Amino acid sequence: MHHVQVRIPARKQSYQIKVAGGLLAGLGDDSRAVLGQAARRVALISNPTVFNLYGETATAALRSAGFQVVNWLMKEGEQHKTLSSLSHALAFLSDQSVERSDAVIALGGGVVGDLAGFAAAVYLRGISFIQVPTTLLAQIDASVGGKTAVNTPAGKNLVGAFHQPRLVLIDTETLRTLPRRELTAGWCEAVKQGAIGSRALFDQTVRLLGKTQASQTEVCATIAAHCRFKASIVAGDEREAIDREDHRSRRILNFGHTTAHALEKITGFRRFRHGEAVGYGILVAGEISKNLGMLPADELESLRAAVALCGPRPPAGDLNIAEIINSTKGDKKSVGGIAKWVLLERIGRARIIDGNQIDKGVLRQSLRAALQS
Ligand code: NAD
Ligand code: GLY
Repeated sequence: MHHVQVRIPARKQSYQIKVAGGLLAGLGDDSRAVLGQAARRVALISNPTVFNLYGETATAALRSAGFQVVNWLMKEGEQHKTLSSLSHALAFLSDQSVERSDAVIALGGGVVGDLAGFAAAVYLRGISFIQVPTTLLAQIDASVGGKTAVNTPAGKNLVGAFHQPRLVLIDTETLRTLPRRELTAGWCEAVKQGAIGSRALFDQTVRLLGKTQASQTEVCATIAAHCRFKASIVAGDEREAIDREDHRSRRILNFGHTTAHALEKITGFRRFRHGEAVGYGILVAGEISKNLGMLPADELESLRAAVALCGPRPPAGDLNIAEIINSTKGDKKSVGGIAKWVLLERIGRARIIDGNQIDKGVLRQSLRAALQS
């Protein structure tokens, strides 16, 4: 089993991420260990798909550790990560008389994790929260670092809170039931983290992607390495400080996201899974980095090969370049209407630059090259 410690020095907080196959059966004992004897009740928040697969095991494990388990299932899909669902979740917690010493447990992908985490952050001004992520994306990224949020009609993740979990329990066996497209999306995010993290993390990720039959040992080690990287970034910049633009600021996690958000927006959030759009975003950022003379051509080739290994993505070559550029300016990570681009100096080292420092011709050419691939 892998243990990764997440330390938030600014708040003297610390929690563990556990990674191994089969951990769900030990959810009760692990929860008891962090919540203590005062916790009587846990609210297990999930969705019907994930609950049908793993709800019984999770509930039995929690009951065997003496918890009363109450379940609330949100509707399936990103379109339900809303204030209305949050309000139903909060009403459920009140109706069930969940107390301050009790806890919320999120069992599912990033959608369930973000919504359940936000409910835990605001219910009774904040109660304990445990993440049990069941998608690759949530295991390497969304469950770590305490960002919780819901979407509003104005955009994604516009209302939320930082609320760190007490424990992240990653059972890699749950990936066996994950649809192929969700795996591709998760792998694209893994390539993103490798590209900005370190050459070693990038190479480890690519080695795993290149295997037709990877062992559980290799999968667990790679997921743990990603958690370790994300934990290191969060430890240094939990709140994504707006004045931080260095290569270890939390903002670098947005590598590939300026383009990805634009692609998702102009296709009405229907064509791409978020991670698939990030796959294109990585390539665009790589092209720009090379065209600005920052990134050597062979490093861009490595990025292209890595993204290709993640799996097929819906086509993007038909999309209107001017519309994409226009949409990047409205990105919520923009400052004063100027998009912030995370680029690469080399694999393993990111650099943040203002969009107005990128020549329009370079931007168009980079988008064209990357979106045709
Ligand atoms: P998701 O939660 O929508 O899950 C994808 C699909 O897989 C869903 O249909 C779900 O029901 C299904 N599923 C989940 N686990 C399964 C399993 N083991 N077997 C079979 N099916 C399973 O998508 P996601 O990619 O996990 O998360 C995306 C969300 O995460 C977005 O809302 C995004 O904003 C958020 N996010 C948050 C952070 C953060 O730091 N908080 C970081 C990245 C992304
Ligand atoms: N996924 C971006 C972050 O956690 O900051």
